[in-house]
Amino acid sequence: MARISMRVDGMKVTDDVEPRTLLVQYLREGLGKTGTVIGCDTSNCGACTVHLDGDSVKSCNVLAVQADGCEVTTIEGLADTVEGDLHPVQEAFRECHGLQCGFCTPGMIMQSVDLLKRNPQPSEDEIREGIEGNLCRCTGYHNIVRAVQYASGHLATAASPRGATEEVDAL
Ligand code: FES
Ligand code: FES
Repeated sequence: MARISMRVDGMKVTDDVEPRTLLVQYLREGLGKTGTVIGCDTSNCGACTVHLDGDSVKSCNVLAVQADGCEVTTIEGLADTVEGDLHPVQEAFRECHGLQCGFCTPGMIMQSVDLLKRNPQPSEDEIREGIEGNLCRCTGYHNIVRAVQYASGHLATAASPRGATEEVDAL
């Protein structure tokens, strides 16, 4: 067994795990973080995507011991649980109907958050390229792309001082 310690969705956790334990297994079976799902277990589908020190990774492709000392964020840590607000990308997927069965959605959202952090105003092609490692069997991707565009627009408005001025002017 190996002792690991990390922060997951803001909570410090310490555990003894088999060295072969995958991060996704540890999150789901060790911590009950079942919002992170397993679609393939072979690093193809992206359903298990989480953030490791701020960057998206497929957690079926990472050993839990490799996350030792890291900050892990899952879909369950994105929303503001104090205020009860969804993350803007979660809100965008809801607003644009960017899901059907929802199986790919946690990974798709985590990947989209990372994409928008690196490229706040992506073109449609850049969005499609940015989520190419995440498979969806239901939606045809159209509404997922729309959701990322919607989130991009809202995040840009929220970040812009002019947006703030306009809000003040409108009062
Ligand atoms: S479960 Fe990790 S990529 Fe499919
Ligand atoms: S919404 Fe069903 S797999 Fe994407």
